[in-house]
Amino acid sequence: MAKRSSYVCQQCGYKSPSTLGKCPECGSWNSFVEVVEEKTLASGKHSKWVDGQVSKPVPLPSITLSEKTRISTGMEEFDRVLGGGMLKGAVMLLSGDPGIGKSTILLHVVLKLLAEGQTVLYVSGEESLEQIKLRVNRLMEGKKDIDFSKFYLVNETIVEAILAQVEDIKPDFLIVDSIQTMETEELTGMAGSVGQVRESAAKLLREAKRRNIPTFLVGHVTKEGTIAGPQVLSHMVDAVLFFEGERYQSLRILRGMKNRFGPVDEVGLFEMTEQGFKEVNNAESLFLSSDKNLPGKAVTITLEGTRPLVCEIQALVVSSKLAFPRRVVSGVDQKRVELMIAVLQKLLKLPLEQFDVFVSTTAGLKLSEPAVDLALCLAILSSFKNKPLKSGVVAISEVSLLGELRPASQLERRIKEAKRMGFDIIMSYPASKTLPDVTSKVLI
Ligand code: TYD
Ligand code: MG
Repeated sequence: MAKRSSYVCQQCGYKSPSTLGKCPECGSWNSFVEVVEEKTLASGKHSKWVDGQVSKPVPLPSITLSEKTRISTGMEEFDRVLGGGMLKGAVMLLSGDPGIGKSTILLHVVLKLLAEGQTVLYVSGEESLEQIKLRVNRLMEGKKDIDFSKFYLVNETIVEAILAQVEDIKPDFLIVDSIQTMETEELTGMAGSVGQVRESAAKLLREAKRRNIPTFLVGHVTKEGTIAGPQVLSHMVDAVLFFEGERYQSLRILRGMKNRFGPVDEVGLFEMTEQGFKEVNNAESLFLSSDKNLPGKAVTITLEGTRPLVCEIQALVVSSKLAFPRRVVSGVDQKRVELMIAVLQKLLKLPLEQFDVFVSTTAGLKLSEPAVDLALCLAILSSFKNKPLKSGVVAISEVSLLGELRPASQLERRIKEAKRMGFDIIMSYPASKTLPDVTSKVLI
């Protein structure tokens, strides 16, 4: 069937045979997306209709509910984000920065399915097959041997060829790494272009649904942090997962951004080790440094999705000889730190303008919610005074410019987690009203 492509403005629908920087109709910039048009037949009927491929309407009572069995990924943390495991025929997009571990975590899923005797097809458009084999060997170190004869790998970027291989091998699980390297012969654009990504994904999607194969598409992220390719890619797939973390830290967070068959705000925690990923079921082992009460650390409870996590903020306050003392921050927002330093200067009369302040979180956890403000203040205060906080103190509150405490969302949930972790001196609004209320009580 002949196909032709044209470019359509995503804002107003203006159509052009070539891509344009600015839409002559509505004036928006860079809004043109390549779309494929199927030729209609001379009779005017849509060609699919002639092929007899269209669906027929059915009355509701004759729809049978098939048992939706979930296929476990072998990792509880992963399953939770998916809503209990993968569904047959579900197409999932796994996106994240390069080198964050997308290919590696999917290989873990592959190993689990192979051990169950399933057939897996791994399409790699990026790495050579030897590279993948080396990685598999690394993941298998010290583990029981499994049968790899049903693990098929292929270096291929033409979608039509991949579909033929799917037909041939009939895999139970399909991975396409990455969708940005795939291209369909029906379009002329380069692999990675908006039209190519969309059309390739559409073809893979159709095949996955038709054959009921759970499929993972790996997607890259652009500098702006969005999934490269059309936004429509995330509309097409059943689930969008985001894998994130600091490249040189071991913590990785898997986030469900969209999920047709499960929750959207679940997170899974993993730790990157020499032999692949380890699940983090007990977050405290990663985020709390040691039992020792040292000056400069404060504990808070943050929410990742709906999950409360206990974590630590560390501060180091040292005298400075610089006219503009340094504020070096990792894991929390720099502006927030400067703001809290200003509040401490004003309210507690701390001469922080003569001190360098360094702030960091443990294991590369990113804390972006305001509920961590109070812990931030306490960590800086504790380091400045060179006195540790009393053991058992946990701080959960936003701090306003005037030093008033503000409520944190889902406080009860956080307090429950704090108590479970053995922190029983809870500093939060409304029990305490202002920053000085808290600071007068917590230092040893
Ligand atoms: P990779 O899965 O290739 O990332 P992505 O597919 O998202 O680009 O992960 C590559 C990184 O992971 C690389 O820096 C090496 C590291 N790594 C480990 O630390 N331990 C391991 O067991 C493996 C396989 C990789
Ligand atoms: Mg990869």
